Order: sequence, then structure tokens, then C-alpha cells
Amino acid sequence: MAAFLSLVQLLFIGTLIVPAYTATEVCDWLLNAAESNFTISTSPTAYQANTTYLVTITDNRNASDSTNVTNYLLQAVSPQNASTGEWEVADKENCSGIDTAILNVTQQAANWTSSVSNISSVEIRAYIVFADRSAVFKTVTLSKATETTTLPSSTTPNSVSVVQSSSFFIAVIQLPLLLVTSKLLS
Ligand SMILES: *[C@@H]1O[C@H](CO)[C@@H](O)[C@H](O)[C@H]1NC(C)=O
Ligand SMILES: *[C@@H]1O[C@H](CO)[C@@H](O)[C@H](O)[C@H]1NC(C)=O
Ligand SMILES: *[C@@H]1O[C@H](CO)[C@@H](O)[C@H](O)[C@H]1NC(C)=O
Ligand SMILES: *[C@@H]1O[C@H](CO)[C@@H](O)[C@H](O)[C@H]1NC(C)=O
Ligand SMILES: *[C@@H]1O[C@H](CO)[C@@H](O)[C@H](O)[C@H]1NC(C)=O
Ligand SMILES: *[C@@H]1O[C@H](CO)[C@@H](O)[C@H](O)[C@H]1NC(C)=O
Ligand SMILES: *[C@@H]1O[C@H](CO)[C@@H](O)[C@H](O)[C@H]1NC(C)=O
Ligand SMILES: *[C@@H]1O[C@H](CO)[C@@H](O)[C@H](O)[C@H]1NC(C)=O
Ligand SMILES: *[C@@H]1O[C@H](CO)[C@@H](O)[C@H](O)[C@H]1NC(C)=O
Repeated sequence: MAAFLSLVQLLFIGTLIVPAYTATEVCDWLLNAAESNFTISTSPTAYQANTTYLVTITDNRNASDSTNVTNYLLQAVSPQNASTGEWEVADKENCSGIDTAILNVTQQAANWTSSVSNISSVEIRAYIVFADRSAVFKTVTLSKATETTTLPSSTTPNSVSVVQSSSFFIAVIQLPLLLVTSKLLS
């Protein structure tokens, strides 16, 4: 409790000087974050190597929430949980090896450039940090676009792969049938 109080005092004094936080504090905010349902949008939406994305956080919670937002944090990780790509922001921190972009409350968007290496997807993690230093997070996964471009754009990637795998399944059944038929005919 005493440690907590002195941390609160430290943070209060910290708000009077710039910057308002230390590197360790920023990484600590991530630790106890709870999952939340706000909106992260990216443009473009499909994963591609060596591409710049605009990542935008929309906090669709009520403005009258008891705590006020002080910062937004952003991370991008590969399926192996390794930091990937490059955040084009002024303020960054290395939190447990993961490059963490630090945005202040006036910045709700940042540019991120994917790495040139060939990874299948990326998970974007966004954190909202409040004045009391509690935080909430949400993740969004960008996957590679399927090569089928003739399907309506409203089709979700999941149903695209279902369509593809079912036609593959049909092809697998048809092949022996074709062989049997050609044997019968000859
Ligand atoms: C998250 O919010 C969206 C729309 O804002 C809603 O459709 C969805 O059900 C919510 N999900 C959860 C788990 O609350
Ligand atoms: C990455 O993209 C930049 C700009 O679009 C280009 O100049 C560069 O050659 C690309 N690098 C690779 C390895 O493809
Ligand atoms: C926001 O406030 C409205 C009305 O004040 C309430 O109906 C709604 O449940 C609140 N939403 C959240 C996410 O707290
Ligand atoms: C949140 O910010 C508003 C406007 O700046 C302020 O009136 C309010 O007291 C703040 N609330 C908290 C809990 O910090
Ligand atoms: C990545 O981290 C998540 C949660 O932190 C964990 O569930 C998952 O197993 C990890 N994946 C790998 C490949 O380490
Ligand atoms: C980030 O920190 C980890 C150890 O926590 C270190 O291994 C890694 O080299 C650091 N990365 C950068 C880019 O400084
Ligand atoms: C937020 O960051 C921007 C860009 O670094 C800066 O211009 C602005 O003054 C900052 N605002 C606050 C409240 O720190
Ligand atoms: C992202 O990059 C574009 C193009 O360079 C630039 O116009 C825009 O201001 C950047 N946005 C942010 C939030 O940095
Ligand atoms: C990227 O990986 C996919 C599957 O892992 C492979 O089919 C493709 O050839 C790779 N592309 C390059 C440029 O290495």
C-alpha cells in the first residue's frame, strides 16, 4: 500500500514535468491491462510485407467514464510473438523486447510499416492508458489477403477459406471417380 501511495505521488509529481512517465512505467502499464471492446482500424486491412499501415484507435466508450485517457500504446507482433515492423512515432519503448509506440491522448493514430520478411499475419495490440494508470487492451490480427479477388468484398476471409477448402475437398473426391470412370471406359 505504501509503495502504491508513493507511486501515485511520484506520478502526480511526474505530471508537472515533461515527460510524465519513465520507460519502466510505460511497460508496467501493459502488465495489468484488461481486454476491452474498443475499435482498432487499419488501412489497408490485409497483411502485406513492406507496407505502411495507418492504425487508428477509436474509443467508443462513454466520455463520462470515471477515468480519463492519458496515452495510447501500440505494438505489432508476429505469430511467433516477436516484435515486427516499425512504428513511425516520436516516442517508443522496448517492453520485454517488443517495440511499443507511445501516443499521447491527442494522437489516436500512427503509421506502422510491416517488415520486408515473409510472415503470414501480424497481431496489432492497442492499449488505452487512463489517468489512474490502469489500462485496457484490444488486439486485431491482419492476415494475408486470399488471392481470390472475384468474390464480393463483403465476404470475410474465413468464408473465403471455407469456399476454397470445400472446392479442394470436391476435387479430392472427384479425382478417384474420374480415374474409375476412365478405367471403365477403356
Ligand atoms: C464489441 O462491440 C461491437 C460493436 O461496437 C459489438 O457488436 C460486439 O458485440 C461487442 N463485443 C463484445 C464482446 O462485447
Ligand atoms: C520496400 O518498399 C520501399 C518503398 O515502397 C521500396 O523502396 C523498397 O525497395 C522495398 N523493399 C523491399 C525489400 O522490397
Ligand atoms: C453509455 O451511456 C449510455 C447512456 O448514458 C448507456 O446506455 C450505455 O450503456 C453506456 N455505454 C457504456 C459502454 O458504458
Ligand atoms: C476528466 O477530464 C474532464 C475534462 O478535462 C474533467 O472535468 C474531469 O474531472 C476528469 N475526470 C477525472 C476522473 O480525471
Ligand atoms: C504468444 O503469446 C500468446 C499470449 O501471450 C500465447 O497464448 C501464445 O501461445 C504465444 N505464441 C507463441 C508462438 O509463443
Ligand atoms: C529490447 O530489449 C530486449 C531485452 O528485454 C533486448 O534483447 C533487445 O535487444 C532490445 N531491442 C532493442 C531494439 O533495443
Ligand atoms: C502530443 O504529441 C504531439 C506530437 O508529438 C505534440 O505535438 C503534442 O503537443 C502532444 N500533446 C500533449 C498534450 O502532450
Ligand atoms: C501517416 O503517413 C502519411 C503519409 O506519409 C501522413 O500523411 C500521415 O500524416 C501519417 N499519419 C500519422 C498519424 O502519423
Ligand atoms: C512466403 O511464404 C509462403 C508460405 O509460407 C510461400 O509460399 C512464399 O513463396 C513465400 N514468399 C517469399 C517471397 O518468400
